[in-house]
Amino acid sequence: MRKNKPTPTVQSLFEPRSIAVIGASASPGKIGHSIMNNIVSGGYRGSVYPVNPKGGDMFGLPVARDINDIEDDIDLVSISVPAPLVLQAVEACARKGVKHIQIITSGFSEIGNTEEEHRIADIARDHGIRVLGPNIFGLFSAAASLNATFSASTIPSGHVAILTQSGALGIAMIGKTGVENIGLSAIVSLGNKCDLDEADLLEYLVAQEQTKVILMYIEGVKDGEELISALNRATRHKPIVVIKSGRSKRGAMAAASHTGSLAGSDAVFDAIMRQCGVLRADSIEEAFNWCKFLAFSPLPSGNNTVIVTNGGGVGVMATDACERFGIELLDDQAALKKIFGPATPSFGSTKNPIDITGGAGAPDYELALSAPVGSEQIDATIALYCETATFDSNNLAAMISDTFTRHRTAGKPISYAVVGGEKVDAAMRKLVVENVPVYADVYDAVSAMGAAYRYRRFQSDRPDQAEMAEIDLARIEAVIDNALAENRTFLLSNEGAQVMEAAGITIPQTRVVKNIDAAVHVADEIGYPVVLKIVSRDILHKSDAGGVALDLDDRTELVDAYEAILHNARQYDPNATIDGVEVAEMIRPGTELIVGARVDQSFGPVVMCGFGGIYVEVMKDVAFRASPLHRNEVLAMLKEIRSFPILMGVRGEKQRDIDTVIDTIIRISTIIERCKKITDIEINPIVVYGQGEGIKALDARILISKINTGGKPS
Ligand code: ACO
Repeated sequence: MRKNKPTPTVQSLFEPRSIAVIGASASPGKIGHSIMNNIVSGGYRGSVYPVNPKGGDMFGLPVARDINDIEDDIDLVSISVPAPLVLQAVEACARKGVKHIQIITSGFSEIGNTEEEHRIADIARDHGIRVLGPNIFGLFSAAASLNATFSASTIPSGHVAILTQSGALGIAMIGKTGVENIGLSAIVSLGNKCDLDEADLLEYLVAQEQTKVILMYIEGVKDGEELISALNRATRHKPIVVIKSGRSKRGAMAAASHTGSLAGSDAVFDAIMRQCGVLRADSIEEAFNWCKFLAFSPLPSGNNTVIVTNGGGVGVMATDACERFGIELLDDQAALKKIFGPATPSFGSTKNPIDITGGAGAPDYELALSAPVGSEQIDATIALYCETATFDSNNLAAMISDTFTRHRTAGKPISYAVVGGEKVDAAMRKLVVENVPVYADVYDAVSAMGAAYRYRRFQSDRPDQAEMAEIDLARIEAVIDNALAENRTFLLSNEGAQVMEAAGITIPQTRVVKNIDAAVHVADEIGYPVVLKIVSRDILHKSDAGGVALDLDDRTELVDAYEAILHNARQYDPNATIDGVEVAEMIRPGTELIVGARVDQSFGPVVMCGFGGIYVEVMKDVAFRASPLHRNEVLAMLKEIRSFPILMGVRGEKQRDIDTVIDTIIRISTIIERCKKITDIEINPIVVYGQGEGIKALDARILISKINTGGKPS
């Protein structure tokens, strides 16, 4: 774990007044040459100092033999010397008192050379230097016209900022942004993240006006708790799109060996991104589609969307996609008829999708797509075009450009899908230059609009402050300390039950008695029906020994069963020590959930809930959230479970006690937050009864750690 960080000064990383290049080279083909070339030819406005022991001149600039020969203060140093020379170079930078270093060089933790990387990070930290990398392609910052990368020499300036852990993919993304005409405000290669990571850089990008959307490619998260806070702050202001590799187990292993970082559980990552309002894309294509849309379109201000099409088939495809991406279609037939009637032929349809039919020409589209601009009832439009003989596709680009501008000026988003041949392709290329979000596939156009909707909804329904419950912390800690004193890393079931009680979570009533009168007395107190179980350290499998009697409805049944199980136990093992008989409440059947919490290696405390019982492993119907959390977020987590409708009551069943389930999850979240020696809690099952009837936590398994790890497992 990182020690104290120096105060971040990321602004001077993105907007340095001076830059030195250690490993600058006059030989074309070398990385140190490309970096120098890109800095100089990219129009960087600050001072540039090449450093190379050979001295002389390059790119018309005098070369310093050592960074300490430079008189000027240095904000940023780029290092591209072979790995064995990097440490010395960093030491020289420390003597010089530079602010930031980007280490291009490979050959550190990604190949197991972790020790050297730590030494570099330690020296930098001790001298208040922030380090990017190692194992990176560099940094581009439009704000300083600085291209300190060894990728393309021309990177168009624009509104998307990219943070990428993979260098090669980052370089490829620069190429793709060029083709798609998505200008960049910044692109930063993070590599092994020995110091600076996504969380540090987000702060600058969120404050920087030019950046409208942030795209992150992540392979592994080192300091997840810090990332969560940074993302929570950032998504208040700007949409963030993330691509994370390592969804599969094998992929996660590949990612771990690629960057030497912890890939973590993908399900947890996915849930936490959603919790932070981050839009996770499945592919680079999808991420770019979303960025293009979010950078150039306003967000919808309400939920009413219309689809306008000249083809029924694509209209149906878009309708299906809207359902998938949670886009609501305006369904007020009278209003739709009034708005779109004048633009729709009698054989078309004003039902949403609005079908202006295959005979529609450019003026018909202009008319139909102008209608939403002035309508208070429509918040967003998806416009579809299939190439037909009646619409001269030479006019397509002008029609789209014009209607897009009108929608944007009115503060309304519109996304286009155009399907056709060469002329349609030519129109798309033209529109790409004008930054109009137009897609060659219906699904892509809808998915981009869906991303805008998800971000807007997150903005308006941001979860409130996290909640903590009242728990008896001292009692829980006493139970844990007792178990630790016995060198255990787990709690026994009766200890688990004590923790539940101390946290205010209802468990079945149970007591151990030594004679039949006491059993009768306790059963009267608990209320029938009850269960009897033999208590003997020598009899582990109670049922096999005939030591369990279920569903005892009255005193007579209780007395008979008491004698029977004692008799059975003695027969089973005549030498067994009988410690007593447990009288327990007979648990009524209900809906079984699993609720848990653990300290995740990457993200710290996370909570989990799902449908429980014995099939939990097979069903895998579970949802996760970072802890602590607000009740609304707990409800959102429950709703993510596929079987949630069962909690709401199906086929005339009563709704289950969802409020108590939420309360229980908050209590579990509080335990994992406050008891730093607990690393895992799993209650399976929690039996949930009808509304107002509560829950019973039947079996709590708790793992503990000897060392107080402050939230991370030892
Ligand atoms: N101070 C300054 N310059 C020095 C020093 C020093 N102490 N020592 C040597 N140099 C000079 C060298 O003389 C040379 O300059 P020259 O061309 O004038 O002789 C220059 O620094 C570079 O040194 P070389 O030994 O020529 O090293 P080379 O350029 O072949 O390789 C590099 C260095 C690029 C850093 C290499 O070790 C490396 O790590 N390559 C991989 C980089 C990479 O891929 N990073 C990840 C990017 S992300 C992705 O996946 C694409």
